[in-house]
Order: sequence, then structure tokens, then C-alpha cells
Amino acid sequence: MPDLTGKVCIVTGSTRGIGKCIAEACAAAGAHVVVSARGEKEVAAIAAALESRGRGGSLGVVCDVRRPEQCERLIARTVERFGRVDVLVNNAGYGLFAPVDEMPVEEWQGQIETNLGGVFYCVRAVAPHMKRGGGGWIINIGSLAGRNPFAGGSAYNASKFGLVGMTEAMMLDLRYDKIRISIIMPGSVNTEFRGKEAGPQNDWMLQPEDVAQVVLDLLALPENAHVSRVEMRPSRPPRK
Ligand SMILES: NC(=O)c1ccc[n+]([C@@H]2O[C@H](COP(=O)([O-])OP(=O)(O)OC[C@H]3O[C@@H](n4cnc5c(N)ncnc54)[C@H](OP(=O)(O)O)[C@@H]3O)[C@@H](O)[C@H]2O)c1
Repeated sequence: MPDLTGKVCIVTGSTRGIGKCIAEACAAAGAHVVVSARGEKEVAAIAAALESRGRGGSLGVVCDVRRPEQCERLIARTVERFGRVDVLVNNAGYGLFAPVDEMPVEEWQGQIETNLGGVFYCVRAVAPHMKRGGGGWIINIGSLAGRNPFAGGSAYNASKFGLVGMTEAMMLDLRYDKIRISIIMPGSVNTEFRGKEAGPQNDWMLQPEDVAQVVLDLLALPENAHVSRVEMRPSRPPRK
């Protein structure tokens, strides 16, 4: 595990699922962790739990990543409290699957704005602070849906395919400012994503802890090395 003592990590969408696990892993590694999502109560509860268990302080900031001004506020509140940002994990995201002619326009807009727009707004807001602080890490949580199209995935596929390209373009923009940007692309993960029930019936899936482990592995890389894209999947999914 990397030693993140004194580092400041923001995780969007960190009140449940993969984001919560990443926030807990960063806190266990000693970081100050900023918890964020739309639900006020949930944000406060997770931030308080991390504050009592983690070694660094933690902060909860309500933020809907679809709103550029809320993303700016998330970064500003973090800098106000901790003075810097070292790591931003853009995890907030959702999927709603339906054939293109049955996909409500607002769900198309919602997925593009959350999974793609939200990442853009947060990176745009954090980059000046990371530059001033001498560098940083940005880790985007993509999906294997960013390389494998499937029926019903017009909006979700578009958002996650777009995220792959946007991540690489941002990496090229910011690499000489010592900001490394990666995308982690998991297959099925045992969370409540899309309203499915998380639980032992999904033991064959990746677990959120597996994704958090990859985040820590990336953060442990030496400064000269950059892993820009990670694809991960369950080792043995049920045979079709
Ligand atoms: N589970 C999978 O199989 C899987 C596979 C590959 C990739 N992923 C990706 O992994 C990420 C996390 O998924 P998950 O499975 O952990 O989902 P999850 O259990 O549904 O958790 C999603 C988190 O994001 C927050 N969120 C949703 N919309 C938001 C918004 N507009 N602004 C801020 N926060 C928002 C949610 O809190 P609020 O609703 O309270 O805001 C929650 O904390 C997503 O980007 C997803 O696309 C998931």
C-alpha cells in the first residue's frame, strides 16, 4: 500500500459502491479524503466514518457533477480546508440501458453529463490547483463499456467511449505539469449499479475492493512511470 500521509484525495460519487471503497482505501493509506455525492446525509455519514477511522482528516462536500459550478465548489472547499489537492478520482457515474428509440432524451443527457461532462468539469476545476501544487494524479473510472458496445448501451457506451478519448487528450494536455491521468475500465462489479442487488450471489464479479486496489497500485508508481489505461474483468464469469 502506498503511504498517502498528508496527501489530499477527492473521490466523486463516494457514498456507496466503488467510490466508497476507494475513499476508504485512500483513508486507510493515510490520506485526507474528501467524500462527495448528491445525498447530503450520506455524504456527511461517510465523511464522519472516515474521520473516525482514517489517519488523515476528512471532509464531506455535496456535489452533483452535472453542475459545473458545484464541481468548482467541491475543489474550492477542498483547497480551503486542506490547502491543496493531490488526487482526484472521478468515479461518479450511472447507467440506464434501453434501445435507442426507447431511451428518454433526458436519460441520454443525464448519462453524458454525469459520466463525461462531470469528469470534464472536475478536471478543469482541479488542474490549476494541481499545477500550482507541483503535480497530481487524476484517475477516471471508466468501464469495459468504453470499448465493447452492447444493445441498449447507446448512451452509456457513448459516455464511456468518450471518456477513454477525453482521458487520453487530458493526459497529453497536463503531463508536463506532472499531472498523471489514468482510466480504469472495470467489467461487472458487485455494487448496486443499475439497481441490482449487491451481495454474495455476485461473488463471481469484481468486488469494489479490487478496483480500489488498482487505484492504490497506480498511486504507488514511481514518478517517471505512467499506466494510462487499465482494463479489468472478473476472472471466471459464468459460461454463456
Ligand atoms: N458496477 C459496475 O458493474 C461498474 C462497472 C464498470 C464501471 N462502473 C463505473 O463505476 C462508477 C461507480 O459505479 P458503482 O457501481 O459504484 O455505482 P453506485 O453503487 O450506483 O454508486 C454511484 C455513486 O455515484 C454517486 N452519483 C451518481 N450520480 C451522481 C452525480 N450526478 N453527481 C455526483 N455523484 C453522483 C452516487 O451517489 P448519489 O446518487 O447520492 O449522488 C453514488 O455515491 C461509475 O462511473 C460506473 O459507470 C461500474
